[in-house]
Amino acid sequence: MRVLVITGAGVSAESGIPTFRGQDGYWRNLDPMKLATPEAFARDPQLVWQWYRERRWRIRNAQPNAAHTAIARLAQFAGEFLLVTQNVDDLHARAGLPKEKMVQIHGNIFVTRCSRCSWSAEACSGGRNHDDHGPGEPPTPPRSADDALVRCPKCNALARPGVVWFGEQLPWHEVQRVEDYLAPGGCDAVIVAGTTALFGYISDWALRASRGGGQLIEVNPEETPLSAFSTQCLREPAATALPRIVDEWIVATADQ
Ligand code: OAD
Repeated sequence: MRVLVITGAGVSAESGIPTFRGQDGYWRNLDPMKLATPEAFARDPQLVWQWYRERRWRIRNAQPNAAHTAIARLAQFAGEFLLVTQNVDDLHARAGLPKEKMVQIHGNIFVTRCSRCSWSAEACSGGRNHDDHGPGEPPTPPRSADDALVRCPKCNALARPGVVWFGEQLPWHEVQRVEDYLAPGGCDAVIVAGTTALFGYISDWALRASRGGGQLIEVNPEETPLSAFSTQCLREPAATALPRIVDEWIVATADQ
C-alpha cells in the first residue's frame, strides 16, 4: 500500500499546542498570522523570538497524542509511506516516525539559523532534559526578561527561528522530496488531517496523489477547501479518527 499523509496544526491541538487560525492561537492578543512573517521580525525581533521561545517551551512539555502514534504505526505497516507535515513541532518524530518518512515543509522550530548567512544550529527538542536549552533560548519557562537576541557566530547578523514564514520560499530540498515521492504515480490512500489546507501546494499534493483513483480522506471537525474533493470526510478530532482508520486498515489487510 502506497500512502501519503498530510498534517497541520489540528493534529497537535490535542497535545495542547494551539492552532494558528483557531481562537486559542492568539498570543498576548496578537495574531500568529501577523507574527510569523519576515516583516514582524524586522519590526520587532524580540517579540517574535518571545513567541517562538514560548512555543518551543510548550512543545517540549507536550506529548505526542493518539493521532501522532497512529500515523507512526501506519508508516510501519504501509509498504510505501510519506508524511508531509506543516507542523514545526517534533511530535511526529517523538511518536516514532523516522525522519526519512517525514517532510517538515514549514521547517523545524528547534532550529535557530542566521537571518543572513547559512549558519544554523539545532536546540534541544522535546523528550530530553527540559533544562537543556539551545542557542537563543532561555531555560524554561520563558520569562519576558529572557529576551536577549542571539547573533550569528559567523557573520553577527540576527539569528532567527528555522521556520518558513509567510511570503517565504519553501525549502527546495524538502519540496523535492515530496515531488520525488509523487513522481512514480498516485497513492492508494491520502489522508489530510488537521489542516485548513489553505496553501495551494498542500491541496495540489493531496489531489495529485489521489488522482489515480486512490482514497482521499479528510480528518477535520470543520469543512475545508479539500472537503469537496474527498472520498471521505471524518468530522472528528484526529486523535479519535486516525487510530480507528489505521486499525481498520491493518485488520482488513490481515484478512486478505
Ligand atoms: P490552522 O490553524 O490553519 O488550522 C488547523 C485546522 O485543524 C483547522 O482546519 C481546524 O478545524 C482543525 N482542527 C482543530 N482541532 C482539530 C483536531 N483535534 N483534529 C483534527 N483537526 C483539528 O493550521 P494549519 O492548517 O496547519 O504556516 O496551518 C497551515 C500553516 O499556516 C501553518 O503551518 C503555518 C500557518 O500560518 C506558516 O507559518 C508558514
